[in-house]
Amino acid sequence: MRYHPKPDWHIRASGATPERLYLDRRQIVAGMGLSALASPLLASTDVTKLAPLKARRTIATSEEPTPIDAVTGYNNFYEFGLDKDDPAANAGTLKPRPWTVRVGGLVQKPVTLDVDTWISKLSLEERVYRMRCVEGWSMVIPWIGFPLAGLLKSVEPLSNAKYVRFTTLADPDQMPGTRFPALDWPYREGLRIDEAMNPLTLLAVGLYGRRLPNQNGAPLRLVVPWKYGFKSIKSIVAIDFVERQPLTSWNQSQPSEYGFYSNVNPDVDHPRWSQATERRIGEFRKRPTLPFNGYGEQVAGLYRGMDLKKFY
Ligand code: MTE
Repeated sequence: MRYHPKPDWHIRASGATPERLYLDRRQIVAGMGLSALASPLLASTDVTKLAPLKARRTIATSEEPTPIDAVTGYNNFYEFGLDKDDPAANAGTLKPRPWTVRVGGLVQKPVTLDVDTWISKLSLEERVYRMRCVEGWSMVIPWIGFPLAGLLKSVEPLSNAKYVRFTTLADPDQMPGTRFPALDWPYREGLRIDEAMNPLTLLAVGLYGRRLPNQNGAPLRLVVPWKYGFKSIKSIVAIDFVERQPLTSWNQSQPSEYGFYSNVNPDVDHPRWSQATERRIGEFRKRPTLPFNGYGEQVAGLYRGMDLKKFY
């Protein structure tokens, strides 16, 4: 992942958001801890243009969600450029509907789903998850989605299926970044089946009570909160059960820096920087990074007996 000389809280400043969801402006400014800087940092995404999504709240956290302007204005989505403010500026060309997702590979019952029709029948949940990016910053995001496990079970995986591979759209007309070889497109990710079926693993279709903005991976993206952010693949078009550990975009591009597992681990440094601490967007002081991003109780058992320095 390209390391970035800009301060990690740098957010494009292009006006104020007309509607504040969840967070009162004073809370945001106080939360920034940098009140003098807070105002110019509040970038804009007109969230009022995104359709609202209803969800029942299931998993919350005592931590304050990151201001929505940072969640929608400070992104990694290389299909729209390499800088943090590129996705918000460029992702308008993505057409998230109509959109189909093909779920297949080693399964009994492959299916192609129209995303809108399908999610209109689902009971959506809101889950406030911490997200830790491999670059050293973190956010707290109120996602709306549903556990991936239900979808995976419904297609009846065959007994030789061991992994799940995810693929993003790669259409140069909608995603100008795919005209350049920053990564081997399409963007691909993978999980072991037990990781994919873990109740924490979410397919997200919204955030902050609205449909996903394009820059956050509309209409459908993965959220795996105990792994570095790059595992949370955006704008998914295919989900396949496979027998062998699949190639993933970052592992393929720089295998010494990005492993298949990519569990958040303060004890395993990235070759070019430490992973021991992180900066929560909006905070000034760094905080210690927790093993499995603080979700160890739920997921550490998945890796019992594995050398996590080897399987990074
Ligand atoms: N998915 C695709 N298709 N392309 C990407 O470049 N970047 C990843 C991940 N998913 C990426 C992607 C990285 S590096 C991170 S940190 C998260 O998306 C960022 O998600 P967010 O912008 O919604 O916070």
